Amino acid sequence: MTAVMNTYARYPYEFVSGSGSWLVEKNGEKFLDFTSGISVVNLGHCNRAVTEAISSQAGMLMHTSNLYTIGLQETLAARLSELSFADRWFFSNSGAEANEAALKLARIYGNKKFDGKRNKILTMKNSFHGRTFTTLSATGQDKIKAGFEPVLSNFVHADVNDFDAVAGAATDETVAIMVEPIQGEGGIIPVQNEFISKLRKLCDERDMLLIFDEIQTAFGRTGKMFGYEHSGVVPDVITLAKALGNGMPIGCMGAKEEFAEYLSPGTHGSTFGGNFLACAAGNAVLDEMTKPDFMEKVEDKGKKLKQALQGIFGDKGCEVRGLGLMLGVQFKDGGMKRFIDAAFKQKLLVIPAANETVRFFPALTIMDEELDFGIQLIRNAADVL
Ligand SMILES: Cc1ncc(COP(=O)(O)O)c(C=O)c1O
Repeated sequence: MTAVMNTYARYPYEFVSGSGSWLVEKNGEKFLDFTSGISVVNLGHCNRAVTEAISSQAGMLMHTSNLYTIGLQETLAARLSELSFADRWFFSNSGAEANEAALKLARIYGNKKFDGKRNKILTMKNSFHGRTFTTLSATGQDKIKAGFEPVLSNFVHADVNDFDAVAGAATDETVAIMVEPIQGEGGIIPVQNEFISKLRKLCDERDMLLIFDEIQTAFGRTGKMFGYEHSGVVPDVITLAKALGNGMPIGCMGAKEEFAEYLSPGTHGSTFGGNFLACAAGNAVLDEMTKPDFMEKVEDKGKKLKQALQGIFGDKGCEVRGLGLMLGVQFKDGGMKRFIDAAFKQKLLVIPAANETVRFFPALTIMDEELDFGIQLIRNAADVL
């Protein structure tokens, strides 16, 4: 019996140390990690630059609160702006809180600009946006809401990649459309470029905010810094978290100035959000990811892994999807569980998602020989199919 609350069906492993693409279990066994802590440790476990940044910051100053200017937060915000379309950033501790901030921004924009007449937010079926009350209400999966009804009522869901469904579901009361560029928890479902371009046009025509939830896709996971770079369609608001801290909890919501200005002093806040330690990690992550050729190498490794997955699973009737190192294989007839168990026996960690899909998320910094070794382990595990 554990004193920890029973909200996760945990696997029977307890890892005690990690380095790069490897984790060590308490019995001393080494596992190759193709999960990156669900797209968090994108630079590998205990990345030296990040560890050094937070260690030295921890000896200087960790927290003062957001009542004062936090220099590292200012720097991180300016750097994120330089890398993206957003002019202003709000810092949180998690992805759900980043989405809460985006949804509050949409609500206050709708209330102020349209006299309280626009307060509905449209999201996609099969999406995942978090576990807080607002973000589970935004999530387009019934199983996430089960037991917590009634959820917040002002969310409407439409089929992803079906523009007519979205256009039909958007009304005079809709103030924003929120979408993940690739649905992660939903089973690595890519959002088509044509669909996303049409969403942009619809939002422009009807003065609705286009919000991209890039909590899982950002920071190199798809082979680009942000997932939206693949389509070239720029949103009005973006939410980030996971890999920004490479393991330090940090999230943020960025917006164009014309929307960001609706959040004024006193309208939103967070005790810990963007504190010295979290931002030291965030800045170190950006230092590493903006080094020359970093993203090109991720794209190359992604192509290699995708090709290998297609070779291994293609003739077993499984579909391979995704971009960069955000790859998924959809199984059938209970194959997902059999494959995951077999992978664990090979000492390879992978992540389940919805729709019988297994996610393969190696560290972006994985070495070529480790990637080859991982592909061999996947091939061995696939024998159970
Ligand atoms: C797309 C997306 N949005 C939001 C979240 C919620 O983030 P967090 O668990 O940090 O609250 C997740 C987490 O998996 C996610 O993948």
